[in-house]
Amino acid sequence: MHSLGILLSGRGSNFVAIADSIEAGRIANARIGVVITNRADAQGIAIARQRGLTALTIPSKGKTRAEHDREVVAALKQHNVELICLAGYMRLLSPWFVQQFPRRILNIHPSLLPAFPGLEAQEQAFAYGVKVSGCTVHFVDEELDHGPIIVQKAVQVLESDTEPRLAERILEQEHIAYTEAINIVLSADFEISGRRLRRR
Ligand code: GRF
Repeated sequence: MHSLGILLSGRGSNFVAIADSIEAGRIANARIGVVITNRADAQGIAIARQRGLTALTIPSKGKTRAEHDREVVAALKQHNVELICLAGYMRLLSPWFVQQFPRRILNIHPSLLPAFPGLEAQEQAFAYGVKVSGCTVHFVDEELDHGPIIVQKAVQVLESDTEPRLAERILEQEHIAYTEAINIVLSADFEISGRRLRRR
């Protein structure tokens, strides 16, 4: 049984999508070992608790990045987590954190990387006037929104779009993309050469 660790800071809709996929058998042979937030008021951590999952708040306020990362890594190791899914985790991971779990940390980003890394990607894309945007699930490396890409989903920008409507359609695709990416990684049936992931 694969054990997943989820890190989140907010709403938690990607976490819920992953949990639902596990319950529905779309992700087989997996469980959520722990859900961790840095923000006590994150909606996602309340949902994790309601669902009876192990839910921890490890506040980041007032700590150095190194101190906070040490605590989070210790909790993930204590729960024997095999794969870590960042799901709206609004913290940069230190290189040390990333090195604790090589090719074992995934992130989801609401744009077609390498376009529009960083915050408010949907807003950036909409303001830029792109005709297609989307989302990316990728391995986390030491650089922001940067590691090898596992899954991307494209979303058309409509003439009638507003930024919130575009963001909503991207989010629907995020929920699908994360499940696909987790299945690829857990299958171990892929190889990476350079930045390029290829399924065997
Ligand atoms: C998503 O748009 C995700 O791509 C980004 O942060 C947002 C988190 O949303 N990294 P949620 O908390 O999963 O609903």
